[in-house]
Amino acid sequence: MTTAIDHPFLARAISTLSSLRAAGELKKLVTIDSPMDPVVTIVNDGGSKHDVLNFCSNNYLGLANHPEVVEAGIKGMRQFGAGTASVRFICGTFTPHHQLESRIAEFLGVEASYTFVSCWNSTEALFPTLCEPGDAIVSDALNHACIIDSIRLAGVIKKGVHKFIYQNNDLADFESKLEAAREKAADDHVIWVITDGVFSMEGSIANLAEMRTICNKHNALLCVDDSHGTGVMGQTGRGTHEHYGLTGQDIDLFTGTLGKALGGAAGGYLAGPKAAIDMVVQRARPTLFSNALPVSTACSADKAIQILMREPQRVQKLRDNVEYARTKIRAAGFQVIESPTAICPIIVGETSKAIAMSKQLLELGVYVIGFGFPVVPEGEARLRVQISAAHSTEHLDALVDALKKL
Ligand SMILES: Cc1ncc(COP(=O)(O)O)c(C=O)c1O
Repeated sequence: MTTAIDHPFLARAISTLSSLRAAGELKKLVTIDSPMDPVVTIVNDGGSKHDVLNFCSNNYLGLANHPEVVEAGIKGMRQFGAGTASVRFICGTFTPHHQLESRIAEFLGVEASYTFVSCWNSTEALFPTLCEPGDAIVSDALNHACIIDSIRLAGVIKKGVHKFIYQNNDLADFESKLEAAREKAADDHVIWVITDGVFSMEGSIANLAEMRTICNKHNALLCVDDSHGTGVMGQTGRGTHEHYGLTGQDIDLFTGTLGKALGGAAGGYLAGPKAAIDMVVQRARPTLFSNALPVSTACSADKAIQILMREPQRVQKLRDNVEYARTKIRAAGFQVIESPTAICPIIVGETSKAIAMSKQLLELGVYVIGFGFPVVPEGEARLRVQISAAHSTEHLDALVDALKKL
């Protein structure tokens, strides 16, 4: 009998890992021994530690270690314990879940919302639950992996769901795919459009104003994953739709994360019309067969949203930091993609160059991740700098000084 240790599966895994190592594509997890602040303590290979400036977290508003956010989580855990030990519909819904869901709906200006343990889960719930055979989904080519998988899953679970992909942010291609979808979809069926609000590798934004107009023309629904836009875009951080002067009512369904600007712990949500959310509560497999969001996380996310609504100046501070950083990085001679988002990719070309530069930066005390092929197209490897409202001007200057030394 083959034991687990010499099972062919392990030989296959070891061979794949060796190929990744040989190609320089093996990811190494950096261990952090401090809260997710602008300065974090990194554990070196030998066990020693050193502090670095952090430019790769999604802690856009600096709320991940905000005293009120931390305290709310602790209070929630003291009052309710670690969690529900149950899925939502059995005995897994605490009052903080309802409070958080009302808060998200109020914040976005929509009827209802429902939370999951991650945005991955909420997005995975979206299409397989709400699509029916004969519907069509029209999706941006650069949409996040959770959207891609949700569409794939919908195709498996609801046979006869049609899929159309348009070139990133290309409105002409978008409209032509929408026309093709309208022809293909059965008469009374739904055309679903889905886009990231902010594209995570480019830091660019979807033109939601134009997309809304085109969707109206073709009687299509517009769904937005604004994981990198919520708390960042628009005057009050409502998201990419606010940046374009739209309201929450102009978006048919939101999917988003609580694991970035809104506290940074974890969790995701769907938000939109009550009937759609009620359907998700009844039918979505990630909620029917998986535990509720931990109560400490629900309480801290709720507090993070309250702080954002109370202190919109945090969004302005982030915007000022972004503008300052982009201007300085460009002045230092680097090519940085133009956009108002907190994601500033510096294009460097080859993957090996991006990885080497990221390593050098870490040695200089600045933590920035390098992304290469296949995450981004060949020849467009980049350092992805992420700015936070918690960064000071000194932090931003130190980033640029380190870049200059490369
Ligand atoms: C655009 C986008 N959507 C969804 C997710 C997944 O979010 P979560 O970590 O809550 O599953 C991410 C996270 O990287 C993201 O960037």
